[in-house]
Formats: sequence, structure tokens, C-alpha cells
Amino acid sequence: MTAGMDWHLARALLEWQVELGATEAIGDSPIDRFALAEAEVSRAHAPPAARAAAPAPTAGPSTAPSAAAAAGPDPVAEATRLARAAPDLPALAAALAGFAHCELRKGARSCVFADGNPKARVMIIGEAPGSEEDRRGLPFVGPAGQLLDQMLAEIGLRRNSPDPATALYITNPVPWRPPSNRDPSAEELAMLRPFLERHIELASPDILLLMGNTACQTVLGRRGIMRLRGQWQEVAGRPVLPTLHPANLLRTPENRRLVWADLLSLKARLRELP
Ligand code: URA
Repeated sequence: MTAGMDWHLARALLEWQVELGATEAIGDSPIDRFALAEAEVSRAHAPPAARAAAPAPTAGPSTAPSAAAAAGPDPVAEATRLARAAPDLPALAAALAGFAHCELRKGARSCVFADGNPKARVMIIGEAPGSEEDRRGLPFVGPAGQLLDQMLAEIGLRRNSPDPATALYITNPVPWRPPSNRDPSAEELAMLRPFLERHIELASPDILLLMGNTACQTVLGRRGIMRLRGQWQEVAGRPVLPTLHPANLLRTPENRRLVWADLLSLKARLRELP
């Protein structure tokens, strides 16, 4: 404990950090990774002589302005260019992992791309990785994901089924865990949307299942999940069904009957489609 800091203050500071999402101690002293990244970018763009003279970035407090404030290429245009240039899913995953404009990547351990069978007839779109997903690099593997797997198994769909007719393919509009599991901002969703659009195009599912408001905002441009749920929509000629996010069901178990009705509707639509 720092000299002069009493036990109660130290405990309050620790609880505050846990609240912010710092759930693991990985070093003895704090590192400002935003300042490190900026210092690396300035060194890379400096002329060779200046680069040699410039001190290597060191960990420590910084008052440098945010990288987002520096003028640069338009992130949405850049995302669109990179996403459209990806000829297949592995190339798209690599393009997303290399996309430098979204600040969320700096606070995340993994770039969570997708899970399941990419040939599945049903593609699920969620929100963003949580702590378990960030740790394992896979979408929907925490408590909400376990509930999702159980509910979809009830209508005969499993993420790892080799048969596209009974398989699932799962992704999120945002591949990096937002700090403290906050909702992704409208700006972040708009910036990353070209990657999701290309993801859907390349996977080419028969049906999209949108789980929660973030998925609806990204794909349909609308929120209001309690009104939208269960109402079939069409996007680029593809049937789209909004339903509640499984995290909502963990908080409000009585909503499970609503999702059950939506899943029965999904099952019926799968039978009707060629
Ligand atoms: N919630 C989501 O929306 N996606 C995940 O991957 C995990 C939890």
C-alpha cells in the first residue's frame, strides 16, 4: 500500500478499478498503453535520424492528446475499403484484427471474430464480447452464451454441428470488449459496420437472428427491441428476426417465454424456406 493511504481508501480504489473492468492484476505498476501506442506511431512516422534520437516509449503517466484527435483517414471509409477487399472469411478476420482506428482494441485482449459453422443457415448477431469472450477469443462463451446454446438446442440448432441445416454461426457487431462492458457507442458501431456487412455477405446465411438492441441498431438502423422482437424483417433480400439478448433473459427470466415464441417462429421459417 502507498505510504499515506489508509486501508479504506486503498480498498475503495481497488473496488473502483474492478468496477471499471480491471479484474486481473498483471503488473506492479500501471502502464498507460494509450500513451505507449501514440509514442510508437510518432516514432514510426519520424525521419530516420529523429527516430534514432527519439527515446523509446516508456510506461508512465502522459498528458499526450488522444490519437482519435489527430487528423487521419476517415475510419468508416477505411473500414469499407478493407472489408470490401476481403475475398473470404479468414481475410476478413485478418482485416478486422488489423483495423487500427477503433480505440476499443487497445483495452481488449482478443479480437473476437466468430464461432460455429460458417456454412450454417442461421447466423446470430449479438452485441460485443464480455470478459469471458475476451479471455477465450470466442463469442458467447460466458453465462449469456451458455443460455443461448441451451435455447437454440431446444429447436435443434448447435454452433458446432457439421450439417448447415442444424448449425449456427455466431458473431458480434463489435469484436473488442468495451471497457466495463459498457454499450458500444453509435460511432463505434458505424465504424465497424462495414466489417459486419461483409461478414454477412461472405457467410451468406438464409436467416439472420438479431439478439438485442445493438444488433438491431447495426443491421436495421433501429432500436426498440421490445417492439421489434418477433417481427420478421428483410435486409438485402434476407429474412431477419429480432429477439431479446440472452443477457436480458438472465436479468429478467420471465422474458424467456417471449424468446421461446421467437425461436418457434424461426424454426417454422426454416422449414418453409427452400
Ligand atoms: N454478449 C454478446 O452480445 N456477445 C458475446 O459474444 C457475449 C456476450
